[in-house]
Amino acid sequence: MGAVNFQNAPEGSVTPFFPFGPMMMHAKMPSSMVRSLNKYTNKIIKDKEKIKKLDHSDKLVGKLKQELLIEEKELNRHMDFFNTIIGNFVQTELSRHFTKLADSTGISLNYKAAWIVRQFAGEFNPVHIHTSCDLSCVGYLKLPEKINEEWEEDYKDHHPCKGHIEFIHGSSGKMHQHTTLIRPTVGDFFLFPADLMHTVYPFYSDGERRSFSMNIQIDQQKINEKGEVESLDNSREHGYSISSGWKLDWMLPTKKI
Ligand SMILES: [Fe+2]
Repeated sequence: MGAVNFQNAPEGSVTPFFPFGPMMMHAKMPSSMVRSLNKYTNKIIKDKEKIKKLDHSDKLVGKLKQELLIEEKELNRHMDFFNTIIGNFVQTELSRHFTKLADSTGISLNYKAAWIVRQFAGEFNPVHIHTSCDLSCVGYLKLPEKINEEWEEDYKDHHPCKGHIEFIHGSSGKMHQHTTLIRPTVGDFFLFPADLMHTVYPFYSDGERRSFSMNIQIDQQKINEKGEVESLDNSREHGYSISSGWKLDWMLPTKKI
């Protein structure tokens, strides 16, 4: 990849561009997906054996009631959604840096751990990053019934943040933003670089704030003229893979750099 240049920009043109800092993406989940993940979670939490088997809290920093792994069968139901959004993210990320995938290559998405986060009054998630992956996400499944009343009060304050998630990058600057505070709504889905710091603030209403997260590894693969993969990049340690490697239809179009 060479240097960015604007030699073809027409006279008088104005082009904002965003070469620095991490990109995030928001998507709204279909309500059927939210319903399915809630139904799945409601079933798991009634099953003592499953709770024990799927407990993921030792691997996570959250000061929370429960963090439970999502099994492959449930996750596979939502693969079309994930593949579309993540493909879009990678493509946008490349284009905002004025670059494209190299000739005869594509990407494959390796879905790693995915887990449900159950948060109740007073609980929180300290500032952290996700390791051994490239992208992470959070999707909101449920909020306490009276959270809007709590927020109404909180928003009378100078810095409302109860039950919000905040993303933090780099250091402060007069002309750039280094934190983003988000008030979640059921159905919100955020995709972000795994090493982007984030934290979740406590709330005090009765009821559950439920979300899920997932870690994703992106591998660039070489493909031949027939569209077959020639080599797989297995150089990185895979924690465990919950998808069957790669699929051609997940790949981005290959274009010259
Ligand atoms: Fe996280």
